[in-house]
Amino acid sequence: MSDIVLSGIRSTGNLHLGNYLGAVKNFVKMQETNNCYFFIADYHSLTTHPTPGDLHKSVRQVLVEYLAAGLNPDKSTLYIQSDVPEIAELYLLLNMNAYLGELERTTSFKDKARKNTNNVNAGLLTYPVLMAADIIIHHADKVPVGKDQEQNLEMARKFARRFNNMYNVEYFKEPVAYNFGNELVKVPGLDGTGKMGKSEGNGIYLADEEKVIRKKIMRAVTDSGPTEPNSAIPEPIQNLFTIMDIVSTPDTVEHFKNLYNTCEIRYGDLKKQLAEDVVKLIAPINAKIAEIDADDEYVKRAAKIGAEKARESAVKTIKEVREIIGIRKFY
Ligand code: TYM
Repeated sequence: MSDIVLSGIRSTGNLHLGNYLGAVKNFVKMQETNNCYFFIADYHSLTTHPTPGDLHKSVRQVLVEYLAAGLNPDKSTLYIQSDVPEIAELYLLLNMNAYLGELERTTSFKDKARKNTNNVNAGLLTYPVLMAADIIIHHADKVPVGKDQEQNLEMARKFARRFNNMYNVEYFKEPVAYNFGNELVKVPGLDGTGKMGKSEGNGIYLADEEKVIRKKIMRAVTDSGPTEPNSAIPEPIQNLFTIMDIVSTPDTVEHFKNLYNTCEIRYGDLKKQLAEDVVKLIAPINAKIAEIDADDEYVKRAAKIGAEKARESAVKTIKEVREIIGIRKFY
């Protein structure tokens, strides 16, 4: 039997290269042989963007970009989180079983609370519970995500296990973070440090035109170059190699690593090659974005059939969960 695969992306902005390489690229591969659910996490985006200028428009943009990247609404169940209100009910029920201490210790909560001192809301604290609800409502086995989601997946497993123990059932499966047997990916930003992120201003977007991509890469942070043969590679340079490792051929990477090791490297050449390979990857998706954006009927149909399929599965789970907990009708 094929696996149930599920993953989501927040609707807080356009998709960047990190989202694509860490997640969406795998969604596209996995939809061929699995029962896949991919969604847009608009409830989650409210934890950090409580009054987004135009939520509806950002959700549509992510949907268009999902489709442009190759997700097929007839192969995968593509949906918008808020189209499936059963997720909110499961979130409420799981919240009774999630403890303040463990939620406060979550790295992403601590990070966001530090950056956002004027809006440390309960939704932010219980973010991993909503994420667990997203995943286990469809009984997912595998969750293709980037490295930054590893801890959230651990929590999802914990909440699933705790539910089973609490009610003495073997009902929910324990989902795993997945990347084809490889390490989960962390795509670095172009600013020399840390990961590529929507709010960091250090990203390359699927919606970026070719010349914008080239310009961003040519401006990426570097240093003055190695002076000793075989010296350690500092973070900003390593970051460019990390992206190159994912988007370029092994020969290309080896070529530039050798030049680095012999102190003959010219960062301009490295960046030009990297830009070439990133453009090769993004240009076809970029062209599709405009095409799909103009086809409103296709976008609407995708959202509609996805919502119907996702609800069917979620309604069944909620019915069973209510039965397990003892929520029964008197009439
Ligand atoms: P989000 O919207 O931050 O990111 C979406 C996906 O992109 C991956 N990603 C990266 N991968 C590698 N390198 C990067 N620099 C990088 N930046 C982002 C993320 O790991 C993620 O896979 N909490 C989730 C959304 C979510 C979800 C879920 C995911 C809500 N419910 C249920 C899976 C299952 C998030 O904020 O992702």
